[in-house]
Amino acid sequence: MPEGQSRNDTIEDRLVEDRTFPPPESFRAASLVSSPALYDEANQDWQGFWARQAADLLHWDQDWQTILEWDEPFAKWFVGGKLNVCHNAVDRHVLAGRGDKVAYHWEGEPGDTRTITYADLLADVQRFANVLKGLGVSKGDRVCLYMPMIPELPVAMLACARIGAPHSIVFGGFSPDSLIDRINDAACRVVITADGGYRRGQPLALKPNVDVAVGATPSVEHVVVVKRVNEPVTMVAGRDHWWSDLMAAADAECPCESMDSEDLLFLLYTSGTTAKPKGIMHTTGGYLTQVAFTHKYVFDLHPDTDVYWCAADIGWITGHSYIVYGPLTNGATSVIYEGTPDTPAQDRLWDIAERYGVTILYTAPTAIRTFMKWGAEHPASHDLSKLRLLGSVGEPINPEAWMWYHEHIGGGRCPIVDTWWQTETGAIMISPLPGATITKPGSATFPLPGIEIEVVNEEGQRVERGGGYLTITRPWPSMLRGIYGDPERYQDTYWSSYAGKYFAGDGCKLDDEGYLWLLGRVDDVMNVSGHRLSTAEVESALVDHPAVAEAAVVGAKDDLTGQAVMAFVITRGTHSASPELGAELRGHVATKLGAIARPKVVIFTDELPKTRSGKIMRRLLRDVAEGRDLGDTTTLADPNVVEEIKRRAAESPTED
Ligand code: WTA
Repeated sequence: MPEGQSRNDTIEDRLVEDRTFPPPESFRAASLVSSPALYDEANQDWQGFWARQAADLLHWDQDWQTILEWDEPFAKWFVGGKLNVCHNAVDRHVLAGRGDKVAYHWEGEPGDTRTITYADLLADVQRFANVLKGLGVSKGDRVCLYMPMIPELPVAMLACARIGAPHSIVFGGFSPDSLIDRINDAACRVVITADGGYRRGQPLALKPNVDVAVGATPSVEHVVVVKRVNEPVTMVAGRDHWWSDLMAAADAECPCESMDSEDLLFLLYTSGTTAKPKGIMHTTGGYLTQVAFTHKYVFDLHPDTDVYWCAADIGWITGHSYIVYGPLTNGATSVIYEGTPDTPAQDRLWDIAERYGVTILYTAPTAIRTFMKWGAEHPASHDLSKLRLLGSVGEPINPEAWMWYHEHIGGGRCPIVDTWWQTETGAIMISPLPGATITKPGSATFPLPGIEIEVVNEEGQRVERGGGYLTITRPWPSMLRGIYGDPERYQDTYWSSYAGKYFAGDGCKLDDEGYLWLLGRVDDVMNVSGHRLSTAEVESALVDHPAVAEAAVVGAKDDLTGQAVMAFVITRGTHSASPELGAELRGHVATKLGAIARPKVVIFTDELPKTRSGKIMRRLLRDVAEGRDLGDTTTLADPNVVEEIKRRAAESPTED
């Protein structure tokens, strides 16, 4: 058993990673933050620190009287302050003479492109705000957006923000049922959609899903449809309208509504795999403050020279905060890409990065592991020398995926910011500051200035070293304000596990130097002979082997040990599945983490079941491993994957 073994009632700490990466001197010298001063400032007066950020980064129509009112678990930030998010994201840049600056280099999957300046955005947003008003939408009304990654999506979001109508974006891959639940929960009056969007070279229809949904959503009065793929759609007279017709008829000017700092900016539903989706509420002043702050400092944004690309979908919180609100508020130039990374070929992202001269790239470990599987020759065939900073979000990044990203995408010169946060936190909470922090592959490092994190044990006591549960111990500006329509569920879900602390649902360990290592969702923790093992660590040990691109690990019921470790593995490049490789991988895990973590079975597969935002659905793998009928698969990106895995699992011998 490795040293530093933690208590059995928390999650064990097994993986040892001691490579360190200080910021390269050339990066540090030009970075916005190259010393711990920002941390010191925040430590002395955290509320004052956030107030300074709010004042420095945003335009307020009216100052706030109180920085924070905290009535656990309900927070109000910058109380009494007034501002408009759209004004901050668009108008003020144009007013300052930067209207010609490119806000978005947009590229459609078929290769069509649009260049959208801040002045273009302002013109479109004002017109669309008038369109919304013309459809009867006023301040406080909820609007549902169900759209592909086209420029009209940020335009619609900003138009909502401009008139104070909260948006609720439903990811374009979701079914009519998901749409119905979300529209009804928020009682949206208007749905904005498109005929479809492009995915893997094909038009993927959206409007037919809306047609099904609105049959069961009595609150919806109007549907606005962008023509994107030119597929035939049914338009119901009086209810359905073409975006282009309404825009052509709309007035060009629409003033910004001055919003209260605590007015609702948007709802975003988290797709719980079992229970009813939760409408996570984000408000105005605090959200925009922390999103702008983190976007600027975590990505070391130099708005005049950087070309920033967050390759997420706007339908997720990452896209809300780091494609739309953060970058625009900071006056950045961003890339938006509509489609999939392997259309028409597996080098699509690198082709885009080269053509636009991308300097900052923000993506997810699931994508990085996919690029590893496809092979390093794809990025190698493009000039990525403009890249200077890389980011990761969404899951723990395995140290070997981190190293691959560092080497093959970052050319060994780009710092990597591994950013931990959630839909609920609204903005990044744990991350390196790239000019100041010495990074370690696989660690999100430290809480950002102003943020306080505690890793605790089962009893809620602070853990100084080793594994435990990640909690947040004081309010932060972009925190969720609740679950729409259900304050009790908000309290129960996030604030009832440990007194006075927000529990994020994630396991986490602290190393000797206080670095934070995320261990995955605690629901996924495995219990083998009384040892609580993190899926993330066993997966990282597997990905550490040169033959493995991606791995998912679950604990399956076992008569002898309670649970046994079952590993699902995707091989890398030219390596192929074999019983010998299975045995080798089992041995490799035992060497890295100890015999207790040795997988009982290794099942080779071509794909893993993932949510549409790319997170591995271990619950489904547990069902497969335990031979159960599959539970709810509605949030699964590709339902066929599980059938294939079931077949492979049936063929894999147990090797004990
Ligand atoms: C996981 C995405 C490890 C975590 C912004 C969290 C991460 C959940 C990281 C939230 C990271 C996100 N390292 N795990 N850097 N970033 N997660 O709401 O389990 O889609 O609780 O927000 O993703 O996912 P969500």
